[in-house]
Amino acid sequence: MAGSTFGNIFKITTWGESHGKGIGVVIDGCPAGLELSETDIQIYLNRRKPGQSKYSTPRKEDDAVEILSGVFEGKTTGTPISLVVFNKNQKSKDYSEIASYYRPGHADYTFDEKYGFRDYRGGGRSSGRETIGRVAAGAVAAKLLKQLGIQFTTYAKSIGPVEITSFDASQIMENPLYMPDAKAAEKASAFLEECMKNQDSAGGIIECIVEGVPVGIGDPVFEKLDANLAKAILSIGAVKGFEIGDGFAVAASMGSTNNDSFAMTDNSIQKLTNHSGGVLGGMTDGSPIIFRAAIKPTPSIAAMQKTVNKSGEEIEISIKGRHDPIIVPRAVVVVEAMAALTILDALLMNMTAKVDNICSFYKK
Ligand SMILES: Cc1cc2nc3c(=O)[nH]c(=O)nc-3n(C[C@H](O)[C@H](O)[C@H](O)COP(=O)(O)O)c2cc1C
Repeated sequence: MAGSTFGNIFKITTWGESHGKGIGVVIDGCPAGLELSETDIQIYLNRRKPGQSKYSTPRKEDDAVEILSGVFEGKTTGTPISLVVFNKNQKSKDYSEIASYYRPGHADYTFDEKYGFRDYRGGGRSSGRETIGRVAAGAVAAKLLKQLGIQFTTYAKSIGPVEITSFDASQIMENPLYMPDAKAAEKASAFLEECMKNQDSAGGIIECIVEGVPVGIGDPVFEKLDANLAKAILSIGAVKGFEIGDGFAVAASMGSTNNDSFAMTDNSIQKLTNHSGGVLGGMTDGSPIIFRAAIKPTPSIAAMQKTVNKSGEEIEISIKGRHDPIIVPRAVVVVEAMAALTILDALLMNMTAKVDNICSFYKK
């Protein structure tokens, strides 16, 4: 199966299935000398761990990461970094029924048609657990970016029909939905209670703000930063939409209002607004990068649904087992991790953009 590798210089390959022995990632191209511990990575993984609230699957997993290679005496060595989380709470019998039919909204049908065979235990490779490798690698990328003053603020902007109406960053970690608006979080919780009573699931929007990225990161044409961010984010299971800056709203805007005027502030060129979302011509423009991901409702639901089994019979199913009624809260850190990986890779690529950069590095 191709397609498990992401990045040009800071390159990651995620591996493993939901109910296999373990799940993880190999990072190739991480510069030597970055201080790195399992705790640095665990902090990120804990944000996507199941079983932390009633809105995530009760599958309790420690999701404890182990560094197998690439770190010596607390620092990265420049060699491949291999990170693993051993699966400890697999209950394959919960999923045995799923082997016989195709879950609407999941990848069962397409996997079977493409490969003629699939690991049906917990969704195999298309399980939400695949994102463990992304988050672990993203934690390493974010640690390096932090040294450059690059910071991420990622949160749930909406849950179902409930959207935030105020923004207080200190609230994000204070509610299990990761909303920066305590009142909206309360309303969203009530909405999710109803959803769960109806054995249904819901979706929402995740927003990510990246501050401190220098101007000119991203390459024109096929390596545009916005294009690469879109690919990174849309590669996460259940993401069905990506917008940067004003996104789809630009279609109804006018040039005179959509353009961000430039001005001189403290002897440097600044934009007066940020409709672009921090990227112009595929390169960062010095404003915060702001993008959003639309997450669909969890496909596996207990409510009755029509489908077809492997013998081609039309049947009705109610999916048992452990599934999140909403994916959004657990995907917040996944979105942040994919953004960190994309931006770090673009920063490393940018080092060879000009002769000046090469000369200042090599010329004595
Ligand atoms: C963090 C995370 C957790 C997820 N948990 C579940 C889950 O419990 N049940 C489920 O049916 N899908 C879950 N998904 C979504 C499926 O992985 C995804 O919908 C499926 O692979 C089909 O891919 P697509 O929605 O991108 O087309 C999760 C996704 C993420 C990112």
